[in-house]
Amino acid sequence: MRVLTGIQASGKLHIGNYFGAMKPMIELQESEELFTFIANYHSLTTSKDAQLLKQLTLDAAVDYLSLGINPEKTTFWVQSDVPQVLELYWILSKFTPMGLLERGHSYKDKVAKGITANHALFSYPVLMAADILLPDTQKVPVGKDQIQHVEMTRDIAIKFNNEYGDIFTLPEYIVEENLATIPGIDGQKMSKSYDNAIDIFMESEKKLQKRCNKIISSSTPLGEPLEYEGCHIYNLAALFLDEEGKQELQERYKSGNEGYGHFKKYLKELIWEEFAEAREKRAYYMDNLDIVQDILSDGAKKMQKISNDKMSVIREAVGLL
Ligand code: ADP
Ligand code: TRP
Repeated sequence: MRVLTGIQASGKLHIGNYFGAMKPMIELQESEELFTFIANYHSLTTSKDAQLLKQLTLDAAVDYLSLGINPEKTTFWVQSDVPQVLELYWILSKFTPMGLLERGHSYKDKVAKGITANHALFSYPVLMAADILLPDTQKVPVGKDQIQHVEMTRDIAIKFNNEYGDIFTLPEYIVEENLATIPGIDGQKMSKSYDNAIDIFMESEKKLQKRCNKIISSSTPLGEPLEYEGCHIYNLAALFLDEEGKQELQERYKSGNEGYGHFKKYLKELIWEEFAEAREKRAYYMDNLDIVQDILSDGAKKMQKISNDKMSVIREAVGLL
């Protein structure tokens, strides 16, 4: 099965991103033919700082490789290294009714938040359709906010196919319904916008401990049994534990021998341990950015070949000489 995902590089990754998006993606590469790219053309719709966009693109590549994207199994590239997608974007624009884009939730939300409406923001879903249709994607794993974009992609592909024959594969989205929302240090959804996130790559164990210490907990005095249900520290720790580990931790809560401080320390150890290998890989890639560039350039070459082959069929179909 050909599966494609686009990543918006938006800065430091947190534990919510990891369990909600990256871990499921990394697991997919074991069983599916995975295509993953950093959507920097899409980021241009909201970026104002060239240096920052470059930095975020490279950082995202380093982070994803460190956390387990395996370039031997997955085609991994930067969107703008395969500009063929922009040609398809233009062709698809002809099959995109204005009304379809006008109904876009994501566009309307962004404008409501004060982002200036411009054509790139408006036609964002057409570029996303080109991303998806170019390599004959079958499945697109997305968060709920992106479902509509995949539906638009299908609508555009159907219109094209009706006119020119069965050129495009119709993609389907996959949404993990039972994926938990990871809580932040205040118990609300962890998000970089709410200042409640625990980042995956903290500078030091000490800083990580400081962050864990800020997790809001109740004020049961030491010596009394603690309630693990509804405890944010427990909920976060549980992400890193198997059934046996969770049982053990529950017993520790019930025993009354330990206070929240102990569990915050335990959580810090779990997080630090979980990402130990990724941290090492990250340090390695940071010192060897040329290796990262090579990986991205190999991925782009693979994707260019696929894109050129597909574009010849499309050009022929629509009558471009
Ligand atoms: P943020 O809310 O920090 O801005 P993004 O919107 O950039 O995060 O999310 C990137 C990906 O990570 C999305 O697929 C989203 O579903 C997932 N994700 C983000 N926060 C969480 C969370 N708290 N729990 C589960 N998944 C999350
Ligand atoms: N719009 C997606 C997001 O904001 C990123 C993206 C761009 C994408 N092109 C894609 C996702 C193609 C899936 C498929 O998260």
